[in-house]
Amino acid sequence: MTSFLRPLAYRHRWIYDSVTAVSSLSVGGVAKLRGLGLDALSQRLEPNAEILDLCCGSGEAAAPWIDAGYAVTGLDVSPRALDLATQRHPLMQQVEGLAEEPPLKDQSFDAIQLSVALHEFPRAEREQVLTSALRLLKTGGWLVVVDLHPAAPLMRLPQQLFCALFETETATAMLEDDLPAQLSALGFFHVEQELMAGRALQRITAQRP
Ligand SMILES: C[S@@+](CC[C@H](N)C(=O)[O-])C[C@H]1O[C@@H](n2cnc3c(N)ncnc32)[C@H](O)[C@@H]1O
Repeated sequence: MTSFLRPLAYRHRWIYDSVTAVSSLSVGGVAKLRGLGLDALSQRLEPNAEILDLCCGSGEAAAPWIDAGYAVTGLDVSPRALDLATQRHPLMQQVEGLAEEPPLKDQSFDAIQLSVALHEFPRAEREQVLTSALRLLKTGGWLVVVDLHPAAPLMRLPQQLFCALFETETATAMLEDDLPAQLSALGFFHVEQELMAGRALQRITAQRP
């Protein structure tokens, strides 16, 4: 079941931004949250690396990559989000499409970011998204996933409240799954997980062999 607040938050930007601002306090604020992907990978990439922000939304988490000078492609299914991304980042390459079947060539990217997006997908589709990411990465390329993780006792109630108000059952289903194990089973290697925000958030990096 989805609460009435979720569609409202997607329709009214200020609600979405306010929820993000409050929920990101536990990692040090919105800028810190948006920079988690770049922070994890910048040391492992060449300055001319090609980056895909998969499910880029309106480009918030693409911003640190673009500011750092990387060539960024953003893919999202929502034309409205992509319009906002175009206004924000005129130089970002925009692709409208499904993350499960991205209309992009194999081995095109040095790194792929999935920022707070994977929890939007049911299990089977989540596997398709991760398999697509593997296909799109060059050999030795890196995936970084930032998303929900089952919180420690102190953060459990706020996380449950957040999920009940703003997420769908796909998010609660993802909390039952072991994402690093899923990535390893799909063929990624060097899978590393970091927990933050009272374990409520996970950042995973993984490499294409
Ligand atoms: C919670 S937002 C995250 C946006 C962005 N990555 C960020 O960090 O702010 C999830 C995004 O996933 C997109 N999305 C949902 N299902 C999708 C699909 N099947 N294919 C591509 N994008 C999808 C939504 O349109 C939305 O922009």
